[in-house]
Amino acid sequence: MQLPPDIERILLDEATIQRRVHELATQISADYADVDELVLVGVLKGAFIFMADLARCLTIPHSVDFIALSSYGSRGAARSDAVRLIMDTRAPVTGKEVLIVEDIVDTGYTLQYLVRNFQARNPASLRTCTLTSKPTRHEVAVQLDYLGFEIPDVWVVGYGLDYADRYRTLPYIAALKPEVYRTAAH
Ligand code: PRP
Repeated sequence: MQLPPDIERILLDEATIQRRVHELATQISADYADVDELVLVGVLKGAFIFMADLARCLTIPHSVDFIALSSYGSRGAARSDAVRLIMDTRAPVTGKEVLIVEDIVDTGYTLQYLVRNFQARNPASLRTCTLTSKPTRHEVAVQLDYLGFEIPDVWVVGYGLDYADRYRTLPYIAALKPEVYRTAAH
């Protein structure tokens, strides 16, 4: 397969991702089998592809909503107090069964912020679903209820993940060549 020039290697190919997304959706559908409605809250921009695939595999009643965050730093937050909500959910989540859907947990500050922020809204329940996590990069303990893959500490792109807003629509998750992100200011 011809890879874009900035890509070093594929870490998770399309079939592997799709298989895992189906597994996660099966697990989530079983765990929420008795609820009236599960509210999926996707974290823009990175989660939009994962959210779309995951939601379409669910076999339980659900709705989708989105939030957008702003953080200092090129990927994620340097600290949880550097995260700001710049677009909130369309509907209130008080009393709802809420599942936060993320593409990646790096330092963990973003997810920590999100869990605290959403707990304060008094949902009926709150869990998190994250496609990827870099355990060696975590700086805070995070609540990972559903996790797709643990990945190494390399810059990953594809399946929603970007480098300078590019490569989000690759169907696989790949490592960027280190010289690309080491030399560029971003
Ligand atoms: C990414 C990702 C998480 C966050 C994780 O977002 O989607 O929200 O970083 O990083 P952390 O664990 O170190 O806090 P990013 O800021 O790259 O924005 P994007 O989703 O719009 O690409």
